Order: sequence, then structure tokens, then C-alpha cells
Amino acid sequence: MDTKLVFGNAAAFATPMLAMFAVDLAADKNAEPRPAALTSSADLQRAVATLLASGEFKAGLGEVALLHAPAGVKAERLLLVGLGKAGDFSLDRIRKGAGTAVRAAKPRSVRGMAIAFPDAQAPGEALSAVLTARAMVEGAAIAEVDWDTYRSDRKDCAVDSLTLIAGETNAGMQRGFEEGQIVAAAQNFARALVNEPGNVLTPTELGARAKAMCNEAGLKCEVHSSEKIQELKMNAFWAVAKGSAQPPALIVMTYTPAIALAQGSPVLGLVGKGITFDTGGISIKSADGMEKMKYDMAGAAAMLGAMHAIARLQPAVKVIAVVCSAENMPDGIAYKPGDIVTAMSGKTIEIVNTDAEGRLVLADGLHYAKTLGCTHLIDAATLTGAVSIALGALNFGVFSNDEATCQKFRDGLKTSGEKGWRLPCTDDYRDHIKSEIADIMNTGKNRYGGSISGAMFLKEFAGDTPWVHLDIANCAWNEEKKPWLAYGPSGVALRSIVEWVRSYSA
Ligand code: BES
Ligand code: ZN
Ligand code: ZN
Repeated sequence: MDTKLVFGNAAAFATPMLAMFAVDLAADKNAEPRPAALTSSADLQRAVATLLASGEFKAGLGEVALLHAPAGVKAERLLLVGLGKAGDFSLDRIRKGAGTAVRAAKPRSVRGMAIAFPDAQAPGEALSAVLTARAMVEGAAIAEVDWDTYRSDRKDCAVDSLTLIAGETNAGMQRGFEEGQIVAAAQNFARALVNEPGNVLTPTELGARAKAMCNEAGLKCEVHSSEKIQELKMNAFWAVAKGSAQPPALIVMTYTPAIALAQGSPVLGLVGKGITFDTGGISIKSADGMEKMKYDMAGAAAMLGAMHAIARLQPAVKVIAVVCSAENMPDGIAYKPGDIVTAMSGKTIEIVNTDAEGRLVLADGLHYAKTLGCTHLIDAATLTGAVSIALGALNFGVFSNDEATCQKFRDGLKTSGEKGWRLPCTDDYRDHIKSEIADIMNTGKNRYGGSISGAMFLKEFAGDTPWVHLDIANCAWNEEKKPWLAYGPSGVALRSIVEWVRSYSA
């Protein structure tokens, strides 16, 4: 989707479809809806006045109404997009509104459209121009994609061109617009990887795609396989990988900023779980829903996408991404419950369940990132089913061993518009992973607090290095389509990881 930002009068802009936002000014949920268009243009106000007065359109979040040949407006159609209650007006609502507008245009075969920025009348505190523009462009670009690549009945109903119209020239908006395009392209790239089936996206293929992305973006990229993984004594990673006919991939991507950094500047390590298919291994999963386990590499995809965005945003901080990719399969030479492996760090691990494979590959990934000089770590992983039990599908799980590092991440959530909820990972939970016969075991002692057990396991390998762990198993795949988001891969956590990285820029 070719996207432009222009400054001017939306009512005078010729386009097949112009979208504009509306909010509900009703004081509380029991009061009659009072929908109001978020525009200071008298022409646009007039064009929607009858519709608003009719009471048909309540400006609920995700609600749309379409007017053809609106009087006094140059556009062929005017789409009114509800953002919900005025009191809930926020960047998040703008992001969703822009997405709703694009997804409303698609089935109507509208190829070119425009969206007007909400202007003067927006209630509440003033939103930053940079972030508003980012929200608009990100929301629109993410909403545009439908994951129908593999469908023969695919309806080619893409929106080819989008113009965002802001009233007054604003340098902040221009910057936000450009940043938003970079981040949204990275997120769609990550989503496309997650959408690929396991037979297409093997660890080797993930490595090839990382290489291609890095070449294009100007990042250093190394892809290693079985030999190097064993040579490095990444035995936990290798234990998971060895049962598959598909060789594993250890992907290392490095971003070095153009400007010289002071001695002792932070080096950020981004570690991703890249299980391209998780059968559970010998502790095999039940058949129900197993097909979903192609998305067990969503953490890795988030890191590939984040590196793509970082290469283009050029923050003044060094970043190294380590992706541990393998397929978890049952086989004659697969690892087994009861096996004991010595991780790269030297810690011994009792394997209790081969389906808890993500923490094993990450154990070596986190340790390896430290040996590469990383001073701060973040990992993203579809680690536990339990995180859905704890948090539903709205907030991913956030865990950390360091207050300041975690706070930086959580501050970034406000900008990224993503939701993450911190769960405990304090030493009093260490009992969960205590083993009688090895240093630790790879499951909790029971199924309670399963996501915390997973985090506690990873914490052993982060050690004293400040670290944030994101359990995205509950958010990586959008099960319920929304007015602003298609069914399928979400690309979750990427935007927040990018914000976290930017917060360290010197
Ligand atoms: N890949 C799964 C977690 C998962 C579940 C991701 C649902 C996405 C959706 C992970 O490897 C796994 O199987 N975890 C086990 C751990 C248990 C055996 C300790 C789980 O959550 O059941
Ligand atoms: Zn598993
Ligand atoms: Zn898994």
C-alpha cells in the first residue's frame, strides 16, 4: 500500500473514499449516544450532520457508516469511523480507527482512499503529533494485510494507495509518519514469517530469510547450524533440535550504529524462540490444535522484524539479535523425558517434558548473547499455554529480574500501543524448577503458575544481566478477527521491543 502524508483541507481532497473519525460524547454508558465527528471542517460537519442526527450511527469502536456522493465534499464516498466513548479517546483508538477504515474499504473494492487526521475537537489531553501520525500509519498498514496468500479463491481487494490528510503542516507529523511506515513494514514482515507453514518455513529457511533481510537492511548476519551449535556446547538447544530431519539454525544479526559510542555503552541482546514447528517431541501434544504450532517461532519473527526496523531507524545503541531456531519432533534420536543435558552456561537440566522446549533453546540463546557482550537482554517467546490462562489474549506476559530495565520496557508500551502485563519472577518461585537430580528441571513442579516456572527457568540463564522476558503465546495469533485486524499472525511485541531499544539510544 503506497502511503502518503499531505497537509490540507480533507473536504477538498479528491479520492474514491475519505474516512473520518467520530466519538461518542455521551457522559456515561447509560446516556443516549451523542456521536460527534472529530473534524473542524464545516464542510465535513455538514456532510455527516443528517447521519449523526439519525441516531443510526453510535460511533462505537469499530463501527462504520458509509455515505455516497456527500454534498460539499470532493470525495466520492465518506466513511465515518467510530472510535468509541470520547473519554476513551487515545492513540490506541486512532490506531484502531485507521485500521478499521482500511478494512472497511477492502471488501468494497476501494483501491484508493484517504483518512483525515482527527483535528481540533479531539477531547482530552492533546496527543503528540509524532505519535498520532505513527498510530495512523501503523494502524492502517497493519490492517491492510489479509493472510490469504495460500488461498486459490483469494480476492485481490488490496487498498493500493492511502493518503493521510492533516490540517496544518507539522514537522513532527512528518517524522512520525516516516517512523510509522518503518515499524509497520517490519511488523508485516514478521507477520508474514509467522503465517508460513512449517513445511515452508524450516529453521534453514528462517535463516535464509534473516540473511536476505539483513543484506537488504545493511545488517551483519551469521547463520550457523548443527556443527557450530554442538561446538559451542549449546547442548540444551541441540537436545531440542536433534530429533528433527531439519537442521537447526542459530541466527546472529548485529546492528552497529554509524556514530562512535562511548566505552561502556549498553549492548542490547534480543533473543527469540524460533521453533518452526512444535509437536511436543516425545511428550507429544494432542492432535487438537497442533497445526497452530507453526507459530511457535513468533518470538524469532518479532526479533527479525525488530532488527529490520532498527536498521532503518538508526538508534545510537548497539544491538545483537540471537535467534535459536529448530523443529521439535519425536524420533529415534530425539531427546527424552529423564535425559539430563548440560547447557552452554554449565548448568545441568533434567528434561521432564520435551514439550517445554522453548526454554531450552532460549537458555543457550540468552547465555550466548551474554558471551557476545550483551549488557541488557530481552527475549520474546511463545513459551507457555499457561499465559493464556493467566492473561487471556489481550496482554502478553512481561517478566524481569531488574526494575529499571523492566520500567523502560513498560514505558514503551504507551508509545507502541501494545499491552503487556507484568507477572512475578522473584526468587521465592525458584522452588518451581528445583530438581532432585540436576541443577534445575525444564517444567514446574506442577501446572500452577506455569508461565512463572518458564520465566524462572530463563532467569537462571540471564543471571545478573538485566533481562526482560515476554511470553507472547497468548497474543501471537489473532484468533478472533477484529474490525482493525485480520485473523492470523499479529506481529505482537515487535513495536514494544523497538521502543525499548530506542530508549537506550545515546
Ligand atoms: N509452544 C508451546 C507453548 C504454546 C502454547 C504456544 C499455546 C502457543 C500456544 C510450548 O513449547 C509448550 O508446549 N509449553 C508447555 C510447557 C509445559 C510442558 C511445561 C505448555 O505450555 O503446556
Ligand atoms: Zn512445546
Ligand atoms: Zn513451543
